[in-house]
Amino acid sequence: MSKILSYFTLLLLLIISTVACRPKTTNTPIAHPAEINYTSLGDSISMVAQQALMGQLMRAMEEGGSTHAVNFCSERAIPITDSLSKKYNCEIKRVALGNRNPDNRLTAADQKIYDSYIQSLEDSIVLESKVVEQQNEMLFYKPIVLGMPACLQCHGKNDEINPATRAAIQSKYPEDKATGFSMGELRGMWKISFPATTDN
Ligand code: HEC
Repeated sequence: MSKILSYFTLLLLLIISTVACRPKTTNTPIAHPAEINYTSLGDSISMVAQQALMGQLMRAMEEGGSTHAVNFCSERAIPITDSLSKKYNCEIKRVALGNRNPDNRLTAADQKIYDSYIQSLEDSIVLESKVVEQQNEMLFYKPIVLGMPACLQCHGKNDEINPATRAAIQSKYPEDKATGFSMGELRGMWKISFPATTDN
């Protein structure tokens, strides 16, 4: 049933992204960028990406535990999001202040959103997706709150991470900043950049 649902979501996404990304032709009226709902587009794409990453992560954990899964993630996480980026004609990333992969660090624009999420958490305000309009792109952000105890096996405090896993993390990511987290903390954000469609 959930398989059917995810196929349905994919199909829906495909239709949406085809409409969103169709090049401008002179006669056919196309969706004006203002008419594209980047919030729901970003929400759907990040959900697909999240499911893809989680599915593979859980499979790797079952196959060989957290140490094996670290090695697996270090090889597969970026290729998985990159291939979905190509598919949906956008750039899908996960970014964080306490980043593990140096490629996932925050830009100045990301930092503002990140800070606002931290503030909302402090004020117990529900965290919501945000869309920021830039000159050449629309940036979609969605908070990633650490919500499963399984995450702590690789992002928790030192004594929550088994020594072999810690060693694997250190060897793959000598500049790792992604440990010491607790449940309910902001782990990072989905960031999806959509190219601005031509509207002149
Ligand atoms: C088996 C170990 C492992 C588990 C379990 C794990 N992660 Fe990670 N996580 C990693 C690795 C390795 C990376 C770096 C991937 C890369 O190279 O892009 C990472 C990266 C991330 C990033 C991207 C930002 C960064 O730090 O580079 C986020 C966000 C994240 N994880 C959230 C989570 C959440 C939420 C959970 C629980 C659902 C979780 N992780 C479970 C190993 C793990």
